Amino acid sequence: MADITRDVLIIGAGAAGTTAANELRKAGLSVVVLEARDRVGGRLWTDVVDGAMLELGGQWVSPDQSALIETIDELGLDTFSRYREGDSVYVGPDGTLHRFTGEMFPVSEATEKVIAEITERLDAMVAEVDPDRPYAHAKAAEWDTITWDAWLRQQTDDDEAIRNLAFATGSAMLTKPTHAFSLLQSLLMAASAGSYSHLVDADFILDKRVVGGLQQVPQLLAERLGEDVLLNQPVRSLQWGPSTSSGTDGITATTDSLTVSARYAILAHAPILYDRISFVPSLPRRQHQMHQHISMGFVIKVHAVYDGPFWREQGLSGTAFSPYELVHEAYDNTNHGDERGTLVGFVSDQNADDVFELSAEERKERILESLSHYYGPEAKNPVVYYESDWGTEEWTRGAYAASFDMGGLHRYGKDLRTPVGPLHFACSDIAGAGYQHVDGAIRMGRLAAAQILDARRAAGEVVGAGASVDNG
Ligand code: FDA
Repeated sequence: MADITRDVLIIGAGAAGTTAANELRKAGLSVVVLEARDRVGGRLWTDVVDGAMLELGGQWVSPDQSALIETIDELGLDTFSRYREGDSVYVGPDGTLHRFTGEMFPVSEATEKVIAEITERLDAMVAEVDPDRPYAHAKAAEWDTITWDAWLRQQTDDDEAIRNLAFATGSAMLTKPTHAFSLLQSLLMAASAGSYSHLVDADFILDKRVVGGLQQVPQLLAERLGEDVLLNQPVRSLQWGPSTSSGTDGITATTDSLTVSARYAILAHAPILYDRISFVPSLPRRQHQMHQHISMGFVIKVHAVYDGPFWREQGLSGTAFSPYELVHEAYDNTNHGDERGTLVGFVSDQNADDVFELSAEERKERILESLSHYYGPEAKNPVVYYESDWGTEEWTRGAYAASFDMGGLHRYGKDLRTPVGPLHFACSDIAGAGYQHVDGAIRMGRLAAAQILDARRAAGEVVGAGASVDNG
């Protein structure tokens, strides 16, 4: 076993971990990042499949994501806009295809009115929710103990309105069935993007992509750390507190081939993976309990590449929605400067479970059939087809991210980011602004680094500049 000693040990080389490590380095501390996988990036993974460059994980950047935008700029990366010229399409309850422009689905006048009224109500509620402290709202307990589905059904009995309102935070974001999470969790999701209206505005939320792929963000951040990023190093155990083997306050982590001693550690990965690590002494009761109320959503990201973007010739933008379709949303995902055309579609929560009961061939057929309902029969014959299945990834276990079960957010939310002794936490899944997005991962990486600098300052240790911390 090789021994390494650093000021700070960071577990996970995703956007959160690589950000935190760079921040600490800038402040003059020594760091090491231990990554379980054989690559940097975590849920950001730009890969070439059968000759096509695909964003297997996160890819979109929206204008509110200022921490991500700052990082993209600072790294010198370029962005390009999602193709959005032409009509969007919507498949209604009777299977009829409708073309439309703008944000409102082409539903009946009565349904449109209901959607508009409830959206206004939601925007007003979201405006009252601080994404960094959703549990602090006066109605947090009330809103956290009613399901998103039940609350919507209290507002209206118009089923088409309910389905269209539900899916913005359900299938499209938290990727859990709408009976599985609370109204408060839904409001947090919307507050993290600024408003409920932002979430339903595809032109806002799915605005830009990075030329060459978003994985370059953690890759370039990791490059700056050089040999201080170690791959294939899943952390198996963490001894923390005064009983570490070095006999001092701090951490001793072990992987299969390394022992790392550090004064502080940042767990920069999804909270559902904390229990893959054996903690000595064990984590406090509060963390044991809280972590059992957090789970990953599940969505299949489907990539279909064609010789050309044939839908554009039909005057279609590629933007497609339907709460009645297996693929509930799909977009033109053609790479920058690529002659080929790429569609990306999403199959979420129970629909994803159901299609994984089928053979790979049957699943592909069902998914392409659904895409053909939006774009016509040509959609059934891609030259490259790929399903990103993050549910099988040992070091992620779902997509896009983790959220609390019913009642968990108001009960445990305030402790999500609270350090435990020398252990700090950073991940998109514990963010407020940018929650479940790369922006949130970067914010949490910065926060954990700032917390450690503050702790060192409080302990009378000499550190470089660093803002004071509000654990928010
Ligand atoms: P992340 O999970 O990326 O990194 C954690 C790292 O820790 C991983 O590399 C993991 O291997 C490692 N690790 C875990 N346990 C370990 C252990 N014990 N020892 C060592 N290493 C360990 N976001 C967005 O902004 N726009 C988008 O369009 C999308 N779309 C999207 C699509 C899909 C399919 C997915 C899966 C996700 C998205 N997202 C997204 C979400 C976004 O990708 C995600 O929020 C961030 O990349 C998460 O970054 P983190 O660093 O927080 O965790």
